[in-house]
Amino acid sequence: MLELRALGAGYGKVPVLFDVSLRVERGEAVALLGSNNAGKTTLLRAISGLVRTTSGAILLDGADITGFAYERIVRLGVAHIPEGRHVFPEMTVEDNLLVGATRLAGGDRRRRLREIFEQFPLLEQLRRRAAGSLSGGQQQTMVIARALMSRPALLLADEPSVGLSPVAIDALFDVFAALRRDGTTIVLAEQNAAFSLDLCDRGYVLQRGRITLADDGAQLRSAAGALHEAYLA
Ligand SMILES: Nc1ncnc2c1ncn2[C@@H]1O[C@H](COP(=O)(O)OP(=O)(O)OP(=O)(O)O)[C@@H](O)[C@H]1O
Ligand SMILES: [Mg+2]
Repeated sequence: MLELRALGAGYGKVPVLFDVSLRVERGEAVALLGSNNAGKTTLLRAISGLVRTTSGAILLDGADITGFAYERIVRLGVAHIPEGRHVFPEMTVEDNLLVGATRLAGGDRRRRLREIFEQFPLLEQLRRRAAGSLSGGQQQTMVIARALMSRPALLLADEPSVGLSPVAIDALFDVFAALRRDGTTIVLAEQNAAFSLDLCDRGYVLQRGRITLADDGAQLRSAAGALHEAYLA
């Protein structure tokens, strides 16, 4: 579904990503691991057209989308959950969710909202509340649900577990696990290796803007452990 070929990207004249190649098949959940400043956010933003690429190619379902603007990539079915929770605090949960559906036709938005409420009963209970009054975990669930409102084929999630309590992280895990079961394709960028390795069965380690390991299991876990010791301890 998604293929990066020797991608390079950066900010102005400062290069950040070098020669990044990876593949994500439809229905897979793939972890993108790496310490602070490794380039995880830059990579997700490059895929969704928010950071300009300088070399290489991005293919979505085999079509070259390199250099496409964000809005065009969103229309092709990519949803990006940005780092940090971007909610409209004064607006209700329901209105926050509807913001995610602007890609859909009028009548379809309500239908999609009902589907999302079936999937996230908690959000239905909270629908009239101002988003700013929700807990961090509830807000993160809402932000994920908002991204799903447009029925994306590919979900890019940037550190969704950051800043959440252990209980909220467990609840968030269940949300992602349910998405996986439903067949949503997910790329999950996380410093929290335990979270993403339990969820994903394959992943890549990014270090200083380069992929240093691509694996599915034990090797990835030990590399993530080493990364943790080297950078976070
Ligand atoms: N807007 C920007 N302008 C210039 N440089 C930036 C910008 N955003 C990030 N960088 C640089 O790009 C590099 C990669 O940052 P990035 O945010 O992609 O890493 P990350 O893996 O997401 O880190 P974190 O785990 O802290 O979120 C860093 O050296 C950072 O300083
Ligand atoms: Mg980041």
